[in-house]
Amino acid sequence: MTSPSRMHSWQRLSTHHQQLHDSGIRIADLFTADSTRFSRFSVKEGELLLDYSKNLITDETRALLLTLAEEAGLRGAIDAMFRADVINTTEQRPALHVALRTPLPDARLKVGAEVQATLDKMQGFVEEVQQGRWKGFTGKSISTVINIGIGGSDLGPAMVTAALAHWHVPQLQCHFVSNVDPVHMRETLAAADPETTLFIIASKSFNTLETHQNAALARRWYLEKGGDVALIARHFVAVTANVAKALAFGIDAANIFPMWDWVGGRYSLWSAIGLPIALAVGMTKFRELLHGARLMDEHFRDTPFERNIPVIMGLLAVWHSAFCGAASQAMLPYSQSLNLFPAFLQQLEMESLGKSVQIDGSAVHSATGPIVWGSAGTNGQHSFHQLLHQGTHLIPADFIGLVNSLYGQDHDQHTHLLANCFSQSQALMQGKSEEEAFRELLSQGRDEAFARALAKHKVIAGNKPSNTLLLQELSAQNLGSLIALYEHKVYVESVIWNINAFDQWGVELGKQLGEKLYDALTANANCEHFDASTNGLINHCRQQQDGDE
Ligand code: F6P
Repeated sequence: MTSPSRMHSWQRLSTHHQQLHDSGIRIADLFTADSTRFSRFSVKEGELLLDYSKNLITDETRALLLTLAEEAGLRGAIDAMFRADVINTTEQRPALHVALRTPLPDARLKVGAEVQATLDKMQGFVEEVQQGRWKGFTGKSISTVINIGIGGSDLGPAMVTAALAHWHVPQLQCHFVSNVDPVHMRETLAAADPETTLFIIASKSFNTLETHQNAALARRWYLEKGGDVALIARHFVAVTANVAKALAFGIDAANIFPMWDWVGGRYSLWSAIGLPIALAVGMTKFRELLHGARLMDEHFRDTPFERNIPVIMGLLAVWHSAFCGAASQAMLPYSQSLNLFPAFLQQLEMESLGKSVQIDGSAVHSATGPIVWGSAGTNGQHSFHQLLHQGTHLIPADFIGLVNSLYGQDHDQHTHLLANCFSQSQALMQGKSEEEAFRELLSQGRDEAFARALAKHKVIAGNKPSNTLLLQELSAQNLGSLIALYEHKVYVESVIWNINAFDQWGVELGKQLGEKLYDALTANANCEHFDASTNGLINHCRQQQDGDE
């Protein structure tokens, strides 16, 4: 495939960007010139609305971006994903997360039967645990679930479980332990009772250091606290594609839930990796989540590009990164329930798009995926929004809001939340000129000289782009659609950049070096074989460290 920067539409976009820049036109001017801009630059799909009118784009920009999508072969790439082609070329497998939310076995995908059988197995297990029939070693029912996993085996399930707190069954408390820092596990265990605690070891590879260490710690704790070794299977289940390793760890074969190599870790919350979600909210809600994702899959697969939400958002992301020079992207859910959504998106976006070579191994010619960060609004307004408004970096923002409050009450307070959400995107776009700031200060009774001096500090450049996504409310279905939307948006970007969104070779080197450093930290001799900094840090710790008590 042609490198994107050599495509005709790419070059035209480059020229077009320069022309827009030279014209000095601002986003706010585009609204003044066109009273229909909101309706022409927004899309409604089911219970989701995307407003992308507050971006510095014109009809011509959109047309060129859509041409770029065609030229890059996006249509064929979408079909290839749904057809189960080997689109993860470096790992030589398909990326089939869409098959996890297909309600009926799809003959073309060949994996439907396994997916349905796993959902049935999850259903049986969830009912046994929730209804108290799954007993621990002293005959008591389970009341605490601790998911041990990291990356995709943690972030997705943890984010969804937190987001759906409103529907948690009261009899189960779900916790997530990911960090190899033993404090994470110890502090979680501090409040747990071994008689009523169930551990889920979630690891696609069953090879991940953090998960291994934490699982071993959990097993030690269970035994130290009097847990019956003969009944350990009542307290440890696993979700993995590596059955042999799970068996070797001591998990009962009947308690191993399958994963498959055709599901990427960061795309896996829809599989049995979602078991803690299902335990927390029940299988009915879990299936609603899958259904919501399915609705987005169908929208992505079947909707013309000009009304296709993931396509539009993916193209805008390419526009911002590659043409406008935005190196970072803020994710701002105005919903406490979605507090963990930015952290989930960090893995989804940065592990997928943090690449420097194209599919054929040649270097990319433009910036690829941006640095993704953010947190729930309104909290961010009182910390990092200052930089969004007056800093020197161009940072596009995605605002995510809920039309209705989750509990159907506190309507007025929820209205403050929405008002803040909209006021932030408005302020980012409009800004405040020096003259406006000066007049404002005079109207507040400041003397002229002081007002002149202070006005310079109150200038807000404005013209900062943003999208706003509104969900009708936070339901399991809408959450499923929202997550799937970002999965597909990421795929769109990867197709335009001609990179593989489904591998993550970059994380390997740190893992390899980590093993060598562990050996050096636990050796008897002074370390001298690395660089001076690493040697110095290791030797300092060796000399200063206390051992286990
Ligand atoms: O180190 C990165 C990574 O491979 C992620 O891609 C993955 O989600 C995570 O580690 C956990 O992997 P596993 O589920 O195999 O333990």
